[in-house]
Amino acid sequence: MKKTRIGELLGIAYPILQGGMLWLADAGLAAAVSNAGGLGVISPMAGMAPDGDPVENLAAQIEKAQSLTQQPFGVNIPLDLRDCGLLIDLILAHQVKVAITAAGDPRIYTELLQSGGTKVLHVISSVKQAKVAESAGVDAVIAEGVEAAARNGFDELPLFSLIPQIADTVKLPIIAAGGISDSRGMVAAFALGAEGVQLGTRFVAVTECIAHEKYKEAIVQAGDTDTVITCRQLVPSRSLKNTEFSQVLLGMEAACASADELREFMGHAASRRAGLEGDLDNGEAYCGSSAGLVHEILGAGEVVQKLVDGYGAVLKRL
Ligand SMILES: Cc1cc2nc3c(=O)[nH]c(=O)nc-3n(C[C@H](O)[C@H](O)[C@H](O)COP(=O)(O)O)c2cc1C
Repeated sequence: MKKTRIGELLGIAYPILQGGMLWLADAGLAAAVSNAGGLGVISPMAGMAPDGDPVENLAAQIEKAQSLTQQPFGVNIPLDLRDCGLLIDLILAHQVKVAITAAGDPRIYTELLQSGGTKVLHVISSVKQAKVAESAGVDAVIAEGVEAAARNGFDELPLFSLIPQIADTVKLPIIAAGGISDSRGMVAAFALGAEGVQLGTRFVAVTECIAHEKYKEAIVQAGDTDTVITCRQLVPSRSLKNTEFSQVLLGMEAACASADELREFMGHAASRRAGLEGDLDNGEAYCGSSAGLVHEILGAGEVVQKLVDGYGAVLKRL
C-alpha cells in the first residue's frame, strides 16, 4: 500500500495505529498490532486494579511489550493524569519509540520527549488545537472526529470535514481517528489528507484485547444508531446507548444535573467496570459509531491485514 510520512516517521510497515484505550490497551494487544506491521499502543492503566499505580503498571507493560515484539510500539499519555511527568520519565528510561499525548497542552512535554529520541504524536479535534500542536513541535497530529469512542472534542466535529481543514492549515502529517473500521474508511481518510489511521473500537473486538467478552459481543451486536454522546458538560464521551449507565446519565443531563452530581454518579473507573468487568449496566461502555461495521471478533493481526488487503481493492473499485 501507499508509503506515507507516518510509516517512515514511526518505522512501521503500514500506517495503521491501534489507539490508546484507558484500561484495555495492554502489552499483549500492542505487541500483536506491532508484529502485524502497524503501531500498537499501550495505555498506562491497562489491566490495572482500580487503586493500582499507573507508573508501576506502565513499567511492567513496557517491559512485557519489549519481550513480545522487536517492532516499534507507542505509549499513550493522557496529559491530565496526575502522574504524567513520571510516566514520561519511564518512556524516556525505556527508550519507547513513540508517545501519543492527549487531553492536555502539548507544549509542556514535547521537547523533553523528543530530546530522548521519542517521536511525539498529539491528539487534537480542531484546527486551533492542530496549530498549537504544530507550534509545540510535535511530529504528527492524530485528528479525532466525533465518531470516535470515548472522549470527544467539545466542538464535536465530524472527521469528514475536520481532516481537510487541518490538512489545509498545518504541514504536519495527519493520522485520522474516529469512525474507521475497514479499508473503505482508510482510503477515504487518505483522500481527505490523512497519511495514517488510528482505530479504537475495532481493536476492542479482537481476541488479544483484554476487554470482557460481554463488552466485545455488545460491540459486535451494535448497529449504526447504538452509540450516544453523554457527559457534554464535563467531557463529551461516546459509548453504547442502550445501557442503564448511559440512560441514567442522559436523564441526569436532561434534568440539568450539576458537574459535581455527574462526577459522583460516574465514580472512579466507570469505563473499567464496563470494559474489564463486563458490567455494561453500571459502567461506561465506550464505543465508536463504527461499531456497526464490526461484525466479528478477529485477531488483531487479521484486522491490520484486512485493512491492507482491502486498501488496493477499494482503490481499484474507485
Ligand atoms: C475503550 C476505549 C478507551 C479509550 N481510551 C483512550 C485513552 O485513554 N486515550 C486516548 O487518547 N484515546 C482513547 N480512546 C480513543 C482511541 O484511542 C481512538 O482514537 C478512537 O477509539 C478512534 O475512534 P474509533 O473508536 O471510532 O475507532 C479510547 C477508545 C476506546 C474504544
